[in-house]
Amino acid sequence: MQTDFLVIGSGIAGLTYAVKVAEAFPDREVLVLTKTVSDETNTKYAQGGIAGVWDDEKDSFDKHIEDTLVAGDGLCKPEIVEIVVKEGPDRIREIIEWGAEFDKAEDGDYRLGKEGGHSENRILHHKDVTGKEMERALLQKVASLKNIRILNHCFVLDIITQHHFGYLIMKTTPDITCYGVYILDTATKRVDKIIATTTFLAAGGNGSVYRTTTNPAIATGDGVAMVYRAKGRVENMEFIQFHPTALYESGIKGHAFLITEAVRGDGAILRNAEGEAFMARYDERKDLAPRDIVARAIDNEMKVAGTENVYLDCRHMDLEKFREHFPNIYEKCQSIGIDVAKDMIPVAPAAHYSCGGIQTDDFAQTSIRNLYAAGECASTGLHGANRLASNSLLEAMVFAHRAFLDVKDKFPDDFSPLPPETIPDWNAKGTNNPREMILITQSLKELRLLMSDYVGIVRNNVRLQRASRRLDLLHEEIEELYRTSTISPQLCELRNMITVGYLIVKSAQFRRESRGLHFNTDFPEKSPLLQDIVL
Ligand code: FAD
Ligand code: SIN
Repeated sequence: MQTDFLVIGSGIAGLTYAVKVAEAFPDREVLVLTKTVSDETNTKYAQGGIAGVWDDEKDSFDKHIEDTLVAGDGLCKPEIVEIVVKEGPDRIREIIEWGAEFDKAEDGDYRLGKEGGHSENRILHHKDVTGKEMERALLQKVASLKNIRILNHCFVLDIITQHHFGYLIMKTTPDITCYGVYILDTATKRVDKIIATTTFLAAGGNGSVYRTTTNPAIATGDGVAMVYRAKGRVENMEFIQFHPTALYESGIKGHAFLITEAVRGDGAILRNAEGEAFMARYDERKDLAPRDIVARAIDNEMKVAGTENVYLDCRHMDLEKFREHFPNIYEKCQSIGIDVAKDMIPVAPAAHYSCGGIQTDDFAQTSIRNLYAAGECASTGLHGANRLASNSLLEAMVFAHRAFLDVKDKFPDDFSPLPPETIPDWNAKGTNNPREMILITQSLKELRLLMSDYVGIVRNNVRLQRASRRLDLLHEEIEELYRTSTISPQLCELRNMITVGYLIVKSAQFRRESRGLHFNTDFPEKSPLLQDIVL
């Protein structure tokens, strides 16, 4: 297969970009790849909403910029923050034009929610299922454009660079170039190549590296791992955001149902096992402090009391309003016997969002030529050491748009596709069907356990050292398996997750300070030296 415009991922970043390119180049085909089905994305699960300055009387760009910088704890790139905050509202208007609906009050104005770290109400939302609504609108818009083709169950294995024609590529090699990707058709098990003039990578997050995560199973960090393997630059991977309030269900590990921060924005209060509203002891913003602070406070309360969860108290809230704003949460709680009017909701932190990722510039260009990246897999400099709630959907749309502007400007003269016959087919010589699936499942269990136990909310040097040693062993074993086995999505995902685990641990070891989401008890202070950790 060959295309001018290849898009990896069908979440908010991938689809926003695909729509724009398809409209600008109606005579050319845009090819979108997804590894399962088109709407199984982190995007679909977004609850709280999308932040944007909407109410010009009370709110301002300056306030949104300031809140983002404060949450980012000194490491945001101010020029990027300004771009996202100022261009964001136009991108929101665009998706509204494409059909996304956000909740309105009786007077026709949008209902603006509040979440941790925001000084004003500025979050547009669709009840508590904002992402589902945005994904729906995007897929509907895509369906109206004849020149977009979505290929489901199409697992991208690697990006093709000069390495695949036998050149020795190192981090310092100039002009590493992306010529397309190798894919595994998960239905036929066939490996193919797709040659692309431009590639836009929007492969999402990596929450599945941890034992408990709010992310769906697709979030295995494939994009970051591929770029790292191709010797592209990846940065700030230590900043993993743990959402403070995932629903705690005894005995259930893996995917955790989120209780959106907007519930606290509407007045819910965190309480410990003794019933104490403990957040006042940690921060004057109490329950609406930025996420890193709230998650650490909960972690501490749980450790002190020896419990596995704390509680979110909604009992004082207006039940009708709660049901109107949070119907999905209300139903989920009912389904497991929790009546939010009478019972507190058990919650605990869970891995939620990767603030670092593939290093990109202000037009989403990666360090690899012809390769753009946006959305959760990218590191633009917006989030710094801790992402402000509801800034991620916004960032994804802003940088999908900026990548489009760059491609539109440069296409076709600045891109240099290779004739397809130059690119070798996938070499599967010497591989056999893996006989023991347990080798994969057991390694995955080990990985998740060690990441949660040693590289969680609170870290220290000994834990990181242990994690690093165990990861080395897992890496060795998976590479052996990869060399000798016929590949499968499970095997490739595990390999990618081990790479991502390694990147998180290495970055955490290099950051000899505590900042934002990275808290190391051996270096509890902030270093005056502000730096990105680039691997
Ligand atoms: P995704 O939406 O995750 O899409 C990734 C795509 O890449 C998928 O189509 C997948 O199939 C594809 N893909 C991945 N690997 C491969 C591969 N190897 N081959 C082929 N395809 C591949 N953010 C906010 O701003 N506001 C919120 O309210 C909010 N709430 C959230 C609630 C939850 C429960 C979660 C999990 C996240 C939330 N976030 C929120 C974060 C936000 O939803 C995500 O960061 C954002 O949607 C990511 O979009 P994306 O386009 O980068 O990736
Ligand atoms: C939430 O709704 O609490 C999640 C918002 C986000 O991750 O930005």
